[in-house]
Amino acid sequence: MLKPNFKEAQKRTKEDIKVLRNEYVISDEMKCFGENKKYFIKTYGCQMNEHDSEMISAILEDMKYSKTNDYEDADLIILNTCAIRENAHNKTFGMLGRIKHLKQTKPNLMVGLAGCMSQEESVVDEIIDKYKWMDFVFGTHNIHKLPEILKEHTKTNKLEVNVWSNEGNIIEGIPSKRDSKYKAWVNIMYGCDKFCTYCIVPYTRGKQRSRMPEDIINEVKDLINQGYKEVTLLGQNVNAYGKDFKDRDYKMENLLEDVAKTGIDRVRFVTSHPWDFTDNMIDIIARYDNICNYIHLPVQSGSSRILKLMGRRYTKESYLKLYKKIRNKLGENSSITTDIIVGFPLETKEDFEETLSLAEECKFDSAFTFIYSPREGTPASKMKDDVSLEEKEKRLYKLNEVINKYAKEANDKLVNKVTPVLLENISEKDPNMLAGYTDTMKLVNVKADKKYIGKIVNVKITDAKTWSLDGEINE
Ligand code: SAH
Ligand code: SF4
Ligand code: F3S
Repeated sequence: MLKPNFKEAQKRTKEDIKVLRNEYVISDEMKCFGENKKYFIKTYGCQMNEHDSEMISAILEDMKYSKTNDYEDADLIILNTCAIRENAHNKTFGMLGRIKHLKQTKPNLMVGLAGCMSQEESVVDEIIDKYKWMDFVFGTHNIHKLPEILKEHTKTNKLEVNVWSNEGNIIEGIPSKRDSKYKAWVNIMYGCDKFCTYCIVPYTRGKQRSRMPEDIINEVKDLINQGYKEVTLLGQNVNAYGKDFKDRDYKMENLLEDVAKTGIDRVRFVTSHPWDFTDNMIDIIARYDNICNYIHLPVQSGSSRILKLMGRRYTKESYLKLYKKIRNKLGENSSITTDIIVGFPLETKEDFEETLSLAEECKFDSAFTFIYSPREGTPASKMKDDVSLEEKEKRLYKLNEVINKYAKEANDKLVNKVTPVLLENISEKDPNMLAGYTDTMKLVNVKADKKYIGKIVNVKITDAKTWSLDGEINE
C-alpha cells in the first residue's frame, strides 16, 4: 500500500525532471484482461482531468475493455475526481454511495478512485477506513501504471492503494482516446508552483514540469493528420511554460508561435495566470489568425488586499492594466473570461465592492464564480473566516447579476454579425440544430444539416441569450 503524504506533496525538489518514453507498458498477462468487459469513467473537475480520463480510457482499451456510458452496465467503474472545492468531494462520495449498492448485486464489479482526491491523505484514509469494498486507488502521477495496479489487485482481491506523493518524471507515450474527433486537449505542462493560499492543486498535481516543445509540436502535427481542427494547450498556468527548462530559453510565446505555425485551424490555451502574461505573448496572439482571440484570465478578487492574502502577486490596478492592454491589442472581437472567488477569509463588504467595481469595469464576456471553500492543508484554511455563509451567498448572487448582465451585452453585440463556428455535434437544446463554438469561445446553436459536423463554417448570429447564441449558416 502506497498512501499519499501531505508533507511530501508540499515539497519542491531541485532534482531535474526526466522525460521517460518507455514507462507505459502492458504485460502480456494484462493484454486481454478487459476482454468482454465494459468500463465506465465519471470525470469531475477541470480540462486536465478530462484529458486524463481520455488517457485512462485508452489504457483500458489497450487491455481490450470497451466503453459504456451506463455505470450500471459496467464491469469496471473509475471515478476521476476533483478536490478543488468541498462540493466536488461531496459529489464523489454521493456517487460512491450509489455504486456501493450496485456492487452488492454485482460482486465482480471493480471500482476505483483516481484524480486529485486520490492525492489527498485524508480522503485515502477515509477510503481505507470506510470504503474497504472498493478495489483500487491511484493518483494523478501514476496513471500509466493502471495495468499493474489492476494486476496487483487481482492477486489479493483487496483494496489496492497506489498513490505517489510527489510527481515523477514526464511520461511520454501514454495513449489517448479522445472524446472529440475535431478538437483535442494537449498537455503542455503539469503541476503548479504558484501556491495560491486557497488552492489545493500544487499538492495534488506536484511541481511545475513543462513538456518538451518537440513532443508538443509532434502531437499537434499528428492531430492535424488525423483531421483535428482545434487544439487547446493545457496547464494550470500555461504562461509559465518553459520557465523550468534548464537547457534552453523557450517560453510560452515561442510555443504559441510554433504551434500556430503547424497550420492547425485553431489554437487555444488555458489557464493564464495574470502574473506571467508577457507583451510578447499578446503580440503573438494578435499576429496569428489561428490563435483564438479568447483569453481566460482569472482575477479571483478585485480587492488588492484580498489578492495579497490569496498570494496572487498582482493588484487590482496591475490586473486592470494588463486587461486593458490585451483588449486594446486584440480588439473589439476578442473575448476575455475570468474566475472569481467570493467570501475569502476576512473579505469585507468594501473588498467585495472592489470586486463588483472590477467586474463593472472589465465587462467580462463570462465568468466562473465560486464561494470560497477551505481546503485542508492550505494556508488559507488556517485564516480566520468571519463571513457567514448567508452573506457569502448574497455576494455570489450580486456578483452573478453583474457578470450575467455583461455576458448578455457581449452576446447582443454579435447579433446580425457573421462569425466562423466549429460545429461539433447535435445541439443539446434541439435535435434539429448543431452546436459549436466561435473562436471567442461562445456557444452557438445553429440550424444546419448534419453534414456540417466537424467543419468550421460562417454563421450569421440571429439571437443572443446570456449563455449562448442562435445562428444560421451563411455561406
Ligand atoms: N490555475 C488556474 C485555476 C485552476 S482552479 C488559475 O490559477 O487561474 C479553477 C478555479 O477554481 C480558480 O481559478 C479559482 O477561482 C477556483 N478555486 C480554486 N480553489 C478554490 C477554493 N478553495 N475555493 C473556491 N474556489 C476555488
Ligand atoms: Fe491553484 Fe494558483 Fe496554481 Fe491556479 S495558479 S492552480 S489557483 S495555485
Ligand atoms: Fe480539480 Fe484537480 Fe483540476 S483539483 S480543478 S481536477 S487539477
